[in-house]
Amino acid sequence: MSESKVLVIDADEQRAETLATVLRFIDYTPVLVSSLGQFSLDGRSPQDWTAVILGQEEDLAALGRFAAWLKRDRLHPPLLVLTRYHEKVIECLGLDRSACLPLEYPVKYTHLGEMLKRAGQLHAEPESRVRVVAAIPGPTGNSALIRRTRRMVEQVAPYDSTVLITGESGTGKEVVARAVHAQSNRQERPFVAVNCGAIPSELLESELFGHEKGAFTGAITARRGRFEMAEGGTLFLDEIGDMSLSMQVKILRVLQERTYERVGSSRSIHCDVRIIAATHRNLEDSILKGSFREDLFYRLNVFPIEMPPLRERLEDLPLLIEDLIEAQVRSGHGEVRLSPEAVHALRAYHWPGNVRELSNLIERLAVLYPQNMVRAGDLPPRYRGQNVVMAPAAVDAVMDEDEEVVVLPMQASSSDAQQIELPRAGLDLKDYIESIEIDLIRQALQRSAGVVAHAAKLLHTRRTTLVEKLRKYGLHRDFDGGREQAKA
Ligand SMILES: Nc1ncnc2c1ncn2[C@@H]1O[C@H](COP(=O)(O)OP(=O)(O)OP(=O)(O)O)[C@@H](O)[C@H]1O
Ligand SMILES: [Mg+2]
Repeated sequence: MSESKVLVIDADEQRAETLATVLRFIDYTPVLVSSLGQFSLDGRSPQDWTAVILGQEEDLAALGRFAAWLKRDRLHPPLLVLTRYHEKVIECLGLDRSACLPLEYPVKYTHLGEMLKRAGQLHAEPESRVRVVAAIPGPTGNSALIRRTRRMVEQVAPYDSTVLITGESGTGKEVVARAVHAQSNRQERPFVAVNCGAIPSELLESELFGHEKGAFTGAITARRGRFEMAEGGTLFLDEIGDMSLSMQVKILRVLQERTYERVGSSRSIHCDVRIIAATHRNLEDSILKGSFREDLFYRLNVFPIEMPPLRERLEDLPLLIEDLIEAQVRSGHGEVRLSPEAVHALRAYHWPGNVRELSNLIERLAVLYPQNMVRAGDLPPRYRGQNVVMAPAAVDAVMDEDEEVVVLPMQASSSDAQQIELPRAGLDLKDYIESIEIDLIRQALQRSAGVVAHAAKLLHTRRTTLVEKLRKYGLHRDFDGGREQAKA
């Protein structure tokens, strides 16, 4: 079967043979290539292989061409590079670290088997890929950006590599840190989070490393630090960009030597803790400003993961909303539902607070409208006001009829139709068109005070067609049928 093939590139033929034997043993079919210079890529696709193992390749030009060819496929199989060549390959080829993993040689059967199993999951059909990843803890969403993030999490999780997660506030940095831990071999051990920005710098050292009795005024008893609590597990250093320079030195030492001392003690304690750090700051800028140590940055930045802002993945809104509503139900709130035009209005918002802001909004709606359908007009003003305009006639209709406010996204007004900008993450065309249709029907009905025949005229459509659409979108309930009949 094609997905069980593994390409092995290695000039060391004896090592290549050994790798091939291991691969066959764990049920993969090796394809050996001693030099890429003699290997034609014509008629091949990166998807022909589950993974590519790279050992020694002298022909750097051919290797460069091969890497460029792989990179053209966004979901190309990972490159497993023997550790002694790993750093050099990353440097020369400009491949993403998440797609270029170090492989220890001699290889361990179980380790290689696990890596290939993960690579195989990513290799599956897009549909099944979604199902596979959905079962694993991690950030919700199905956009290419989030799929890529999940893929990075899966790839780095089994190693003890330090991970640096960057991204705006509320994008889900902690969600990702927890996912890395939950998918790692440390999952049974503690995940301990410390918000380095929230703890005063004079207390942070004792918070992280613990202290001995009498170490400072008020230290009545000895106390364990977060490193000790996280022993065997993962320590999440959140907002590391806010840490003082003197603490940065101490963290650097732990990363280098894996030892530290409690405050007030000279006894070194060895630790076995995986570090995941996060910050909303641009650490490279902080280095330039002198507020972050460059050496610590490189120690932390072994495997960077950047969380995309919500406005760049608006197509994830429906899934996120669904998840957040479920979370509200689990915490005892009534189930709230959002109408298509409410979701549409939310798509026009710029989400400065990202998923955290969305989560707060859903909680607020669950409190205000338990077991109810939320319409665009029910949303707090900033979510319908920022990028949306109200047709002036609709405002009059609201006054007269006490109907709900109908909002129409600015980009979607018919005169501006040519200015609609496709979000970077794309959109669901059918949903989008339907929500525009619903908005316009609502406006027409409001402008004609609920008289369907008049609204149909405004929309240049037949009355029966409009009635059909009202039923289809469940709008006939909003515009009271009795009044309609009386006036029609
Ligand atoms: N992709 C996601 N799927 C589900 N929930 C998410 C996702 N991203 C974030 N959240 C939720 O949004 C909130 C913020 O997430 P989180 O605390 O991980 O963000 P953060 O980037 O660490 O934010 P901050 O910088 O403000 O600390 C949490 O309630 C979290 O559960
Ligand atoms: Mg956070």
